[in-house]
Amino acid sequence: MTTMEYERVFSLDDEALKCPYEHFKRARSECPVSRSEVAQVWVISDHEHVTAVLKDAVTFSTKQMLGPQVAEEWQRMIDLAAATPEGKEKLGPEYGTSPRKVLLFADPPEHTRHRKLIMSALSSAAIRSWEGRIRETAQLFVDRLAEQPRVNFVEDFANAYTMTVIADILGLPREQVPQMLKWAAGFNSMVGNPNLTQEEVDALVDVRLGFDLYFDEQVQQRRKEPTGDLISRVIELNDAAEEKLARDDLLQLFQLVMVGGSDTSSTALAKMIEYLAENPEQWTELRNDASRIPLFMEEMLRTESPVQGMFRYVTKDVELGGQSLKQGDYVWVSLGAANRDPKVFDDPDTKNLDRKGTPAKYVSFGGGPHTCPGTALIRLGLRIVLEMLTARFTGVRFTGEKPASKKSFLFFGPAELHVEFLN
Ligand code: HEM
Repeated sequence: MTTMEYERVFSLDDEALKCPYEHFKRARSECPVSRSEVAQVWVISDHEHVTAVLKDAVTFSTKQMLGPQVAEEWQRMIDLAAATPEGKEKLGPEYGTSPRKVLLFADPPEHTRHRKLIMSALSSAAIRSWEGRIRETAQLFVDRLAEQPRVNFVEDFANAYTMTVIADILGLPREQVPQMLKWAAGFNSMVGNPNLTQEEVDALVDVRLGFDLYFDEQVQQRRKEPTGDLISRVIELNDAAEEKLARDDLLQLFQLVMVGGSDTSSTALAKMIEYLAENPEQWTELRNDASRIPLFMEEMLRTESPVQGMFRYVTKDVELGGQSLKQGDYVWVSLGAANRDPKVFDDPDTKNLDRKGTPAKYVSFGGGPHTCPGTALIRLGLRIVLEMLTARFTGVRFTGEKPASKKSFLFFGPAELHVEFLN
């Protein structure tokens, strides 16, 4: 087989990262399970095999999906944080004793227990109860934009807005958001950086300890006085459960919500604004008829999947798509390519707002046991802010160069987005 075009994506080629899914087209039609020499993984690129892998969380494990190096690095930060005098004194002797394999880093059957907890905590009634606060946040950001309509949308709006929504649901004050953004950036930087300097290690231990101390204090406060936010709900449900998650595991769960819910949502929102700057007639359509906004969001999420793919670890030898996968191999599940599979979506590259049944079929939020638990929340947060933006402004236009994409084959969206909102 000739070299697959997708190798350019795994090599982080700037041009390829502008439309990564394009580079999986040939693999998807000719060889949906193929081998990447660059990434040293099996690449799964059609809808049928992507959904099969996502559903089988036992054969295709997430527990070790980031590889042994990252797992060791995370554990090292936990051990170092637990060895600090402050960690020992404030968080007690159990601090650092749990391997923190929670949710995305757990396989069934443990995962099933974690899942029940997060799904009950994020019930639709709970999300409805947080809607007012999310609206206030969106209003605040849109008002600020009206005062200063020229922005780098990624940094000045999307990152801060989506993290503030996370703070809102966790029940944390908005002033905490800059610190949360720093923690999230710190946790993200632990992935795929094998050569940390001592200074970087110290900084990451500070991130680990700072996050744990702060969230532990929040947990203790909610135990005394529950406030109906996500932290309170998780604590109540966990305290009532037969098999309880340990305190450190709960801290890990909140970390996953903070990290998993922020960059993904911010990337999605920025990509939508970039698209609307390129397609002013779409802005006008949404401004004239806000009922089209959810349909627009779904087509954007399908065609421009904010998470382009994910790794899985193969736990036993298995045949897939005519290939023999061995225990210990890694696979890359290409969500971006599966979302544009012509076998499932007619005219897949077109954003057709009248397309039927899209949300049930696309895989931007994963599929199977690990499907994103934040879907209802993010749809609400995105819809509210898009409604306010399109009602308040007549359009949006680029003020700088056409934006470069993030230097990542995982997250897909503009690295910066210099735009002006028009009145
Ligand atoms: C547009 C926004 C979002 C996108 C595209 C997204 C995407 C995803 C994807 C693809 C997965 C599955 C990962 C895998 O199977 O390896 C996932 C899982 C997860 N997401 Fe999201 N997510 C978004 C927003 C959120 C929000 C707002 C939250 C916060 C509540 C959140 C929390 C999580 C958690 C905790 C998991 C792990 C679930 C498990 O392992 O059972 N995500 N997300």
